[in-house]
Amino acid sequence: MTFLLPYLCILLLSASHALAIGIAEILAQTPELSALNTVLTSEHPEFLVTLNSTTGTFFAPSDDAMSAFMSSIDPDTFNPDVIKDLIAYHLLPGTFTAKDLSVVGGVVAETSLTNAEYVNLDPGKPNVVFASAYGAAGLDSVEGPLKVYSGAGEAAAVTKPDLAYDGGLVHVVDHVLNLPQSGTKTAELLSLKIASEFVQQTGLTETFDGTAKLTSFAPSDEAFKAAGIDLSAITPEQATAALQYHLISGDVGYSTVLDDGKEYQTLLGAPVTIHKKDGQLFVNDVPVQQANVITKNGVAHILAGVLAPPGL
Ligand SMILES: *[C@@H]1O[C@H](CO)[C@@H](O)[C@H](O)[C@H]1NC(C)=O
Repeated sequence: MTFLLPYLCILLLSASHALAIGIAEILAQTPELSALNTVLTSEHPEFLVTLNSTTGTFFAPSDDAMSAFMSSIDPDTFNPDVIKDLIAYHLLPGTFTAKDLSVVGGVVAETSLTNAEYVNLDPGKPNVVFASAYGAAGLDSVEGPLKVYSGAGEAAAVTKPDLAYDGGLVHVVDHVLNLPQSGTKTAELLSLKIASEFVQQTGLTETFDGTAKLTSFAPSDEAFKAAGIDLSAITPEQATAALQYHLISGDVGYSTVLDDGKEYQTLLGAPVTIHKKDGQLFVNDVPVQQANVITKNGVAHILAGVLAPPGL
């Protein structure tokens, strides 16, 4: 028997060697990840080494996602330091299968993004993504494609789920996730011009951008116009009260955290009531048009109407 031992050892060694698969191997073996693989292996091997030694869930942008991203950036002004933050934002420390992320209501999942430039939540806490197969509010009546909602409302669909590596799973996504930005910057990116004017004119920019764990309900420009609200026709006090009535601080109000029928205290003091009905999220009686836009300091829900503060 003993003469067989060295042979057995070699067999076992080569077997365990063959089984070792890191994120690097997934990237190299998956045809639709060739662009990401090329960028990392040829331009940023240091990030690939780090990525390959981590565990968790990695959202890997497909070739289409990479080419759209590359053409959206200006190579002359693009800061390569951002790549590190982008990788961190695409990596969840926890292991989530596509099925885990496709539950009714959706899932708020912590990422590895902790750079204070993109995160102002509880001290030391990373920012999050919202994953849902039931729409941006997680309330659709039927299951649809699994999407990952990130900064500025970017929604990336999972196009190839559950590629297993030794430390977790890789899901191929069809868009690069957007890093969470300040409220002001998010409003600019989503063309919420009138909401931005409100913030500027009331001097509440510091509250809006600087308050950790803020939930904002931001009416669209169409909503302001339909409500006939003219900033120049109301007093600064009224404008301030109106804006404060659209903001909540405290636990971040991702749709998963907001309960149907429950009241939430706004910065004005008066509460708003959340409703979840007919597959939609409502604030008082105003429908949310785009839910779970992840921001640096919390979340924004875009409203199809304007909330009327009581007594104004
Ligand atoms: C990635 O990690 C795996 C498993 O830990 C290892 O076997 C492999 O050699 C690594 N690949 C690279 C390119 O570093």
